[in-house]
Amino acid sequence: MCGIVGYIGNKRAQSILLDCLKKLEYRGYDSCGIAIAGDGIKVYKDAVRVGTLGKSSPRFDGTTGIGHTRWATHGAPSQVNAHPHLDCKGNIAVVHNGVISNFQELRNRLTSEGHDFISETDTEVISHLIEKYYRGSLEEAVESALHDIEGSYAIIVLMPNETKLVAARKDSPLIIGIGDRENFIASDVPALLEYTDRVIYLEDGDIGVITTDSIRVRRDGSEINRKEHKVLWTVAEAQKGGYEHFMLKEIHEQPQVIRNTLGEYTRMTDSVVGLAGIRDSGIGSVLMVACGTSYHAALTGKYIIEELLSIPVRAEIASEFNYYSHVLARTVAVAITQSGETADTLKAMKRLKEVGCRVVAITNVVGSSATRIANQTIYIRAGPEISVAATKSFTAQLIALYWIAMSYSKVDARRITELNMELRQLPSQVQRVLDDEDKIIEHAKYLSGFEDVFFIGRGINYPVALEAAWKLTEVSYIHAAGYAAGEMKHCPFTLLGSNTPVIAIVAKDSTYEAMLTNIKEIKARGSPVIALIEEGDEVIEELVDSVITVPRVNTIFSPVVNTVALQLLAYYTAKERDCPIDYPRNLAKSVTVE
Ligand code: F6R
Repeated sequence: MCGIVGYIGNKRAQSILLDCLKKLEYRGYDSCGIAIAGDGIKVYKDAVRVGTLGKSSPRFDGTTGIGHTRWATHGAPSQVNAHPHLDCKGNIAVVHNGVISNFQELRNRLTSEGHDFISETDTEVISHLIEKYYRGSLEEAVESALHDIEGSYAIIVLMPNETKLVAARKDSPLIIGIGDRENFIASDVPALLEYTDRVIYLEDGDIGVITTDSIRVRRDGSEINRKEHKVLWTVAEAQKGGYEHFMLKEIHEQPQVIRNTLGEYTRMTDSVVGLAGIRDSGIGSVLMVACGTSYHAALTGKYIIEELLSIPVRAEIASEFNYYSHVLARTVAVAITQSGETADTLKAMKRLKEVGCRVVAITNVVGSSATRIANQTIYIRAGPEISVAATKSFTAQLIALYWIAMSYSKVDARRITELNMELRQLPSQVQRVLDDEDKIIEHAKYLSGFEDVFFIGRGINYPVALEAAWKLTEVSYIHAAGYAAGEMKHCPFTLLGSNTPVIAIVAKDSTYEAMLTNIKEIKARGSPVIALIEEGDEVIEELVDSVITVPRVNTIFSPVVNTVALQLLAYYTAKERDCPIDYPRNLAKSVTVE
């Protein structure tokens, strides 16, 4: 939700900032801007994407600057609301990611003190507060301004007469990138991969001060040491690598992502894998919290863990859970979040910790906020996921859940050995789905002509139906809904007909017969039915209009192969409809507001 970047060094800041902003666009892309220190501050911003801004921007030669790519919260995307925002005299420029919750009160107070505001944003109060408190030290002015501010923020402040950048964070991510006679600040690692693999993760309450040659971190008025980390992600991982879109590249990376994630867990010792709390303290239930696609992984995890551990699992949408009053203290909580920065998930984690739950985070991003709140972190090894639509992170989250469940399973050892062998074959099964891409493209062409699509599944494939509908809606702008197949006749049947195709996800398990009945009922009401089936299922082929075939795997692993096929379906449908696949309208990848 908004990407921010700062550069100070000996090179021309403008091109570096624009390059970094392009890498941060997945965080928001309705407008963008830069401010460069030179003779005063030069600001160039507009309600356009970074590429367009770069082409129209005049050349600035300064070697210090800040930049922003926006996902609007206060005020529509427009030139005036785009960041950076200045103070009255135009001496101080600020970029901000987050939400200042008391901004109206601050704005009223500052207005009565003679400050003029030109935008509708909450951010503009920050530059004016810094102006108000400035007495010759930018860091001290920033510190004073932050005392007045409530809400969440990652900010970078530029003031040309101070040869430094000052940054601060609370509940929004911020890192310092260490260069050679140059330093960087950014919302996230992918922005800086091209320039450095040495980073410092700032923590809530930290104020970072960077010059060309130095980095200092202050906290409560004193200097502190923050450890330097080496980034494991590579530049190539964050590039399209010949694919037309990041989404397609990331779908195709999934066999390797499964291998990497499994490889990571195999190397771990028993004590650091999984829900140690379950075994150690005899805790009898698991509560999972997550949002969006990660919630669909959590819901799948409920089926996996209940089957293999025989303990009750609740999967909750974090934003709903946060307003639910009753929390059991003796529960292991699992928070699933690709970015590790989703505001609702972080809020749920804090609440769970407060009531005494052990909180395990499953995340993709090293040093993310979730890792700091959790008692224990299990990393997925998905690599940087740039496309706004989550694909490979979902699959990797499932792998983490399989691994956790299998590590502590109460089922017999022979079954676990068999499951283990099948788990290790998943990369090649997923590869077979990818190799069959051309057949899926045909279905996508057909689907692209409709405006409403239903996905149905049962049991462990019910969350797959939810995820498939989520993905199709997100990238193709087709209205899609996922249902438990048995629920269809309780209401959605009213919408069936020739304009409402239904995609039935069929597993050869105890749900099979019931699914056949559901498909017949749907066909009888005139909806075209596409069935996603295991290879060799000729019975269903006879019943439906067409089939998408995936390799036969144990039902517990079917969400992996089924989801990959349906990701491809969503991708190619969106492509057929000429949608901006990696950057769907109105969305952002990292949702750092409630
Ligand atoms: C959908 C998608 C979102 C995220 C959700 C949670 O494709 O990407 O629904 O899954 O915003 O994000 P994380 O996993 O970062 O907490």
